Amino acid sequence: MENNQSQISNLQSQVGKFASGQVNGPVIETQGLTKRFKKVTAVAGLDLSVRKGEIFGLLGPDGAGKTTAIRMLCAIMDPTEGSARVAGFDTRKEPEEIKKRIGYMAQQFSLYGDLTVLENLTFFADIFEVGRKERQERIERLLEFARLTRFKGRRAAHLSGGMQKKLALACTLIHQPEIIFLDEPTTGVDPVSRREFWDILTELHIEGVTLFVSTPYMDEAERCSRVSLMFDGSIVVCDTPERIKGLVEGQLLELRPDGLREAAQLIADLPGVLEVQTYGDLLHVFVDDAAQRAQEMEAALAGAGIAAEGLRRTRPRMEEAFISLIRKRSEENT
Ligand SMILES: Nc1ncnc2c1ncn2[C@@H]1O[C@H](COP(=O)(O)OP(=O)(O)OP(=O)(O)O)[C@@H](O)[C@H]1O
Ligand SMILES: [Mg+2]
Repeated sequence: MENNQSQISNLQSQVGKFASGQVNGPVIETQGLTKRFKKVTAVAGLDLSVRKGEIFGLLGPDGAGKTTAIRMLCAIMDPTEGSARVAGFDTRKEPEEIKKRIGYMAQQFSLYGDLTVLENLTFFADIFEVGRKERQERIERLLEFARLTRFKGRRAAHLSGGMQKKLALACTLIHQPEIIFLDEPTTGVDPVSRREFWDILTELHIEGVTLFVSTPYMDEAERCSRVSLMFDGSIVVCDTPERIKGLVEGQLLELRPDGLREAAQLIADLPGVLEVQTYGDLLHVFVDDAAQRAQEMEAALAGAGIAAEGLRRTRPRMEEAFISLIRKRSEENT
């Protein structure tokens, strides 16, 4: 009897934990997830595990395979090989269970331009069968949340690009999904709106929603709890932004030379220089020992008659880490 009771109380505490979202198991898990089109392998053997409540970033350039990966996770497209579980369900066998629990803001999310903000939200409430009772309160809350209450009567086609993205996000949230997939949600949006959009995502994160976001922007990757760098269908590295930045070999020097190309060539051949990257009119130089190599570099540039200013040591950001890791990966493959 006692045993039974302790089992029951154990079970109750488990249920309590689950209901309050304290169970931190993976909510997205893939094994060897692969998609091949006729000529291209868009996604090549993806192994991912995303925990509940994470902001997980999929960072990669055009054509890396981000959209294809997301479409498979959203159970819209079947993999050629491998498998994925989302919210505990198999994408291939239980797509309907998954669709109920996730929100998907596609790269080309289509709003109805002729409908107003409010009408768009109502339309999505219909599609997702949100009951009449809860819908009004929910729509009002989402309008506030997306900072769109003032614009609820405006046609979607007449909103700014940033506002359209926020409306698309609000529509994606209408059925209160546990996991949200956002495919390049801020591409083409001005920097101020991008920041505001990310503030909204952070609020969702605080509420405990799991966010899976693809982006080509390095600064956005810095806001994720973990990031996967995707290139040519594969994951180059998957870790916290801090640790990814820590993977870059050597120390980083930055300078602004007069002749960028000439200076880059000269510096690349100096001893102790591991890698040279251009960044606007700046050169980023990875070296084995910043203090020693900075002096040698100044001397070499002066000797060649190249003026340079602003030589200083700096910390690698995601951008430098990304370029460096991808370059290494390409060298390994050739
Ligand atoms: N339906 C399709 N048929 C054939 N090839 C496809 C198809 N969809 C995608 N591809 C190819 O697969 C690769 C990955 O494409 P995908 O759209 O997943 O990349 P992405 O990372 O989302 O790129 P972007 O940043 O441009 O959106 C590309 O080479 C693309 O041309
Ligand atoms: Mg894409």
